[in-house]
Amino acid sequence: MQIDIFTIFPKMFESPFDWGTIRIAKSKKIVSINVWDLRNFTNDIHRKVDDYPYGGSSGMVLKAEPILKAVRSVMTPDARVVLLTPAGKLYNQSLAQELSEESHLIFICGRYQGVDERVKDIINMEYPDKTMMEISIGNYVLSGGELACMSIVESITRLIPGVLKNPESMFADSLGELDPPLYTKPAEVEGVKVPEILTSGHHTKINQWNSTNRKQWTH
Ligand code: ADE
Repeated sequence: MQIDIFTIFPKMFESPFDWGTIRIAKSKKIVSINVWDLRNFTNDIHRKVDDYPYGGSSGMVLKAEPILKAVRSVMTPDARVVLLTPAGKLYNQSLAQELSEESHLIFICGRYQGVDERVKDIINMEYPDKTMMEISIGNYVLSGGELACMSIVESITRLIPGVLKNPESMFADSLGELDPPLYTKPAEVEGVKVPEILTSGHHTKINQWNSTNRKQWTH
């Protein structure tokens, strides 16, 4: 999978993709992630990416032209364009699964008050069979889409076949089931013991205990 990320803060991405699952996926060449500075797609000497909104509301808006130029510079026939915005579709595990099956994702990290609305209109006109998605990672407002993008990239990467050593955990996730309470050595911590059944060696009973105690998503 190819992932292209456009942001005005590329340095924010310097380390998050160098650890754990994403590092493994990159080293196995299962994903390739490019982070691009939106300012490199401006045409003016000041490399201006934002401006005041028409109509006088507060804050700044990301300009359409640098984003359009940026997206076009990496666009491929199967690319899916995603804009991170608090007004987008609420992200969840089934959307993660859906995106993990794509071969090329292009993320635009919004900033300031928002992104010029024409970005969406123009991209949708230009690539009508690949509607641009707007995604929110939760009903709260971040100062920009960068941290949202990182969360999405991590949740997608671990679902791509070949990335995780233990694909069972991946299947459990996709069914919406989470792990049961987990314990590791020692068997007793400050007087608190591991549930007896887990150290009993009765595999059938342990499996039963695990399935009845699985945690669920909270909403
Ligand atoms: N940008 C600002 N807030 C956001 C959110 N909750 N999800 C995605 N992008 C955002």
